[in-house]
Amino acid sequence: MPQPVGRDIAPAKGKLGVMLVGLGAVSTTFIAGVENVRCGAALPIGSLTQMGTIRLGKRTEKRAPKIRDFLPLARLTDLVFTAWDPIPDDAYTAAKKAGVLEPQHLEPVAAFLNGIRPIPAAFDRNYVKRLSGTNVKSGKTKRDLAEQLRADIRTFKKTSGADRLVMIWAASTEVFLTAGPAHQTMEAFERAMEQNDPAIAPSMLYAYAALMENVPFANGAPNLTVDIPVLVRLAEERRLPIGGKDFKTGQTMMKTVLAPAFKARMLGLAGWYSTNILGNRDGEVLDDPESFKTKEESKLGVLEYILQPDQYPELYGNVFHKVRINYYPPRGDNKEGWDNIDIFGWLGYPMQIKVDFLCRDSILAAPLVLDLALFFDLAQRARLSGIQEWLSFYFKSPQTAPGLYPEHDLFIQQIKLKNTLRWLMGEDQITHLGIDYYEKA
Ligand SMILES: NC(=O)c1ccc[n+]([C@@H]2O[C@H](COP(=O)([O-])OP(=O)(O)OC[C@H]3O[C@@H](n4cnc5c(N)ncnc54)[C@H](O)[C@@H]3O)[C@@H](O)[C@H]2O)c1
Repeated sequence: MPQPVGRDIAPAKGKLGVMLVGLGAVSTTFIAGVENVRCGAALPIGSLTQMGTIRLGKRTEKRAPKIRDFLPLARLTDLVFTAWDPIPDDAYTAAKKAGVLEPQHLEPVAAFLNGIRPIPAAFDRNYVKRLSGTNVKSGKTKRDLAEQLRADIRTFKKTSGADRLVMIWAASTEVFLTAGPAHQTMEAFERAMEQNDPAIAPSMLYAYAALMENVPFANGAPNLTVDIPVLVRLAEERRLPIGGKDFKTGQTMMKTVLAPAFKARMLGLAGWYSTNILGNRDGEVLDDPESFKTKEESKLGVLEYILQPDQYPELYGNVFHKVRINYYPPRGDNKEGWDNIDIFGWLGYPMQIKVDFLCRDSILAAPLVLDLALFFDLAQRARLSGIQEWLSFYFKSPQTAPGLYPEHDLFIQQIKLKNTLRWLMGEDQITHLGIDYYEKA
């Protein structure tokens, strides 16, 4: 058999600049967490790139290096950070207000966090109704704002001495938009920016600016952002990786573990009621019906694709699926996600499953931000361009090529991710066939 050949990957030399849009709960938990890990004060739990291993070759070979040793990833010591936010708080103040991390993880890194002050944001209240901020850019047109964002990127690259950059949207969820004429061609998109067309949301300005400055872009919220034809094409033309949408952390992560199990056993589903109570700023923003609609679409899609009701009408043809998010300040970032699942088995007998996930939203999201930063940087150095479907593992609503349905099953996503890593490094794919352990040639 011919040996697979790996991909040429440029070395991870110098610093990697992580540009975060939004300096709220997720971003500050991520930055403070990385600094704690760098100081040896905590472990990067939840991060596949830092904690995970990858099996290579046959089971008998016993080769399973750490992912971070197997691939030429940027090291944590190479990371430098910046962020934009309409709220002027530095990362320390923002982290304290977010209330996620305890003083033991904030005070020792306070000086570091104090030094990260948000760049004025391209912000517009029409897209995030429940927020207001003073640290905002002004410009006559959206195009002007995009040009200012491009200048910010160049400035950060120069002042930080970063060799490479990645940009991650960890800002508030914008109101619901669908792709329209302004999102089809570059000419239409640029004209729409110049005419302040409402079809152009601030997140699109960041994504456009990133791509124009050769920076990969990942979207951690459910907004349309980079999931529009014009920006997908721009990424392909400029050979830049893009991806999204919406970090897959708590309730939806559990859903994409449980639903495949029901389907694997051919158990039917009558209904799935998911509700959340959440008291952080994200919860407040999502209390606005228009921002909630964006989130709802992202959370609802998963069951439809996993269960394939068209193929299994008796099992999944009549599922009642409801998702609710309730803003409840006393809980802060400590979300409680309840699921009531009505399934049915042999001869149609009903059963119930209840899941009560007392999670910490940003604690779950921070390691995903880290992995995405490292993998998007790797993708760029490996010249992988356009939508990075192999990183669907991290997203509730994975972006895919037109005509392809997204893969939501967490374990299929994991296999896809790890096989992509093997492919990048010229290792054999692992199919889990295993017949050769039993049938000798
Ligand atoms: N924590 C999770 O588990 C999780 C999971 C999936 C998605 N998300 C998404 O990640 C995003 C961040 O979550 P969070 O808990 O950190 O929220 P947060 O409200 O604490 O932080 C978001 C920050 O973005 C800022 N912002 C809003 N519009 C901006 C703009 N145009 N430019 C720059 N900054 C802007 C806000 O001022 C705020 O400080 C949200 O959209 C959330 O829905 C979070």
